[in-house]
Amino acid sequence: MYVCLEGIDGSGKSTQLEMLGEWLEEYGLEVFRVFEPTQSPPGKLIREILTDSKASTPQYQRILGLLFAADRMILMDKIRDAEKQNKIVISDRSFYSSLAYQDDPEWIQEINRYIQKPDLVILLDVDTRQALSRFEGKDHFENQKFLEGVRKNYLELAQKNNFFVVNANNGVRKVHEDIKIIVSPRIGRCV
Ligand SMILES: Nc1ncnc2c1ncn2[C@@H]1O[C@H](COP(=O)(O)OP(=O)(O)OP(=O)(O)O)[C@@H](O)[C@H]1O
Ligand SMILES: [Mg+2]
Repeated sequence: MYVCLEGIDGSGKSTQLEMLGEWLEEYGLEVFRVFEPTQSPPGKLIREILTDSKASTPQYQRILGLLFAADRMILMDKIRDAEKQNKIVISDRSFYSSLAYQDDPEWIQEINRYIQKPDLVILLDVDTRQALSRFEGKDHFENQKFLEGVRKNYLELAQKNNFFVVNANNGVRKVHEDIKIIVSPRIGRCV
């Protein structure tokens, strides 16, 4: 099974992935953790470009789109291997992040056509102001207006693709409980 956590910056994906992973392991399951972008060569290039001011230009946005698709194409073998070993794959972001963050969804769909999609997507939906307040005092490049658009895109994607939506304005423990309720029946475990 391939489970993915999606949501805007500061929605709590990394925090919740950690908690979910530990909870699954406590139950005796083997877990394979994925963080996009990965440590592959295209993944490293993505991180490098993201720190550059040119990242927001249309040309570099398209370069990023292609690199993310390449990074996922490389990742796919690792996900398949993990699944063959009966591991639960849990992922911080997926192809849906590209759709939510980037323009031209048709093109994004096309270049990600052969990418394996997650079996279960949990959207951590959070108010943008609340999300940004979590980065106070830390470096952060996305602004509220941009994140409003991304959040809207995510909610539309959730409707179209049957994501589970969790209210991520709540505290860390409550969000974890809500995620457990969604995942439990799929792994045959009581909450
Ligand atoms: N439910 C929550 N309530 C309050 N603070 C939270 C909550 N979840 C996470 N945080 C805090 O908010 C910050 C961002 O959380 P986290 O890194 O998990 O978000 P993220 O979705 O992975 O963000 P990014 O997309 O930028 O990687 C961290 O400092 C984390 O401790
Ligand atoms: Mg994170």
